[in-house]
Formats: sequence, structure tokens, C-alpha cells
Amino acid sequence: REQVMTYKTILVEKKDQITTITLNRPQSKNAMNPQMHFDMRDALTEVEQDRECRVVVLTGAGDAFCAGMDVKEYFLETETDPAGRAAARKAAFEWMFRKLRLLPKPTIAAVNGWCFGGAFAWLAVCDFAIASETATFGLSEVNWGIIPAGGVTKLVSSLLSPRDAAYLIMTGKPIDGKQAAVMRLVNSAVPREKLDQQVLELAEELKKKNPMVLACAKEVLRVDQNLSLDDALLWETAKWTELDASAKKTWHKGVKQFKEERTYRP
Ligand code: ACO
Repeated sequence: REQVMTYKTILVEKKDQITTITLNRPQSKNAMNPQMHFDMRDALTEVEQDRECRVVVLTGAGDAFCAGMDVKEYFLETETDPAGRAAARKAAFEWMFRKLRLLPKPTIAAVNGWCFGGAFAWLAVCDFAIASETATFGLSEVNWGIIPAGGVTKLVSSLLSPRDAAYLIMTGKPIDGKQAAVMRLVNSAVPREKLDQQVLELAEELKKKNPMVLACAKEVLRVDQNLSLDDALLWETAKWTELDASAKKTWHKGVKQFKEERTYRP
């Protein structure tokens, strides 16, 4: 892989139109300090503008995916620095909920190990997640005497069943990758040594699709969640029509091949 941009706390590498962002504070289990939020915001801004990049993979260095917020650098050390805390929180919200959630390219979380607390926020807004069977997930907040905030409760409760969300949020007990797949917190769990291959196969599958169509499908999916059915019908029709106009009706060829020539099976 070719390393493209240099950041203090993350690695950004490109290969075959796939950009991999690796949280790179393995000595702290990739806990998110303020600098990491600034780096992620900047990296995702670059990735969004990179025309070559078709799929984004997010993972962690060493044996951790991400141990949540850095409890010392993000919480404790900003207690007497409200402006510093606000700047870090603003960057965190920006990269997770605007840049990553709405990125017009498919995103895959490759959960290689420890995944706690605030990591659930950005895990939840990745389009796909594949975990190592031996990864450990937990909403440990209640054990710290705090609650899962910063979007975590909201996103976990929209992703999981109410029972599973309450279990994770209110017991603080960890689960492994296999249990995370059963709960549908991740798409699937595979042995650790198969994780990279599994992620690559999904990325290759996504690369075969028309990127404009994928970006539109994702935008509709994200925005639909906040709309009534009546609003969603209008929005979906508008986006369908917009895509159809810009894609020069390539689907006409598909219909011909399917119905007349019988050479195409969607
Ligand atoms: N914040 C700050 N430092 C952290 C964090 C964190 N969230 N997680 C790990 N670290 C640090 C450890 O303090 C330790 O630092 P040190 O070398 O200076 O002592 C280093 O990372 C390695 O961690 P260990 O605990 O020694 O590693 P171990 O393999 O025994 O355990 C584990 C790993 C399970 C991830 C453990 O570190 C842990 O429980 N971390 C806290 C996870 C957590 O509760 N996150 C939620 C935070 S709250 C929130 O996100 C809103």
C-alpha cells in the first residue's frame, strides 16, 4: 500500500482505489485524543475529494480497533480548558456524523480487536462492519459512572433491537465478535486471520458498482431515516430522477439486454 498523507495519530494508505485509515495509537489501544479527532476530520475531507478512492476501510493498529475516547486526554485534561474540549468535541462530531456518516463512498469498519465506548459512534455510521471473532465490544460507560453520549446511545438504539441496546448500555458487559454478529452490530465475524481478506472481498464487490449510483443510494438511505413516508417518497423520486438524468439512461441498455437479448441477469 502507498502511504499518501501524513498525520500524527492515524495512517492513511491507498491501494487499488481502496483507502485504508488506521487509527495509530496502539500504545493507548487507539483511544481517541483531541489530535486524533482533528486528524480524522482532515483525512476524511481529503478522502471525500479523492476521485480515485472508491471504498474506505477503517481499522486500528495493533490489537485494538479503538478503546473509545481517551479518558485522560479527551476528558480529564480538558476539564479546565472548556474551549479546548469544545474544539475537540466539534471535530469529533464533524468527522463522525458529517464526514463519515455522509461520505459519498462506501465505508467498511474492520474491527480487529478492542472496541469500546465512543468507538461505537463511528462503528455505527460506517456502512458495513466486519469483525474478528475474537474482538471485544463493550459500552463500558456505566462502569465509569457516565452514560454513552456523543451520539452513541442514539445510534446504538437505532441499529440494534431495544433489548440488545439496553443490555449493552445498561450492563456495560463486553461481548465478542461472534455475539456482535448475532446482534447485527456487525455484518459478520470471521477468524482474525481472515479479516483482511473478508474486508477486501466486500470492497472489491462494491468497486464493481457504478460509484454515482452507490453514492446516491447511500445519501437516500441516510436522509430517509429522518423523513416521514410522504417526505421520503418525494425525496426518493427526486433523487431517482436526478440520477437518471445524470446517468444518461444507461439502464435502458440493461432492460434491452434482459428482456430482448437475454444476456443480462441483474
Ligand atoms: N483512554 C486512555 N487510555 C487508554 C484507554 C482509554 N480509553 N484505553 C486504554 N488506554 C491505555 C491504558 O491506560 C494503557 O496505558 P499505559 O500504558 O500508560 O498504562 C494502555 O492504553 C494499554 O492498555 P492496557 O489497559 O494496559 O491494555 P490491556 O490489554 O490490559 O487492556 C483494554 C485493553 C481492555 C482496552 C483496556 O485498556 C480498557 O479497558 N480500556 C478502557 C476502554 C473503555 O472503557 N473505553 C471507553 C472510554 S469512555 C468513552 O469512550 C466515552
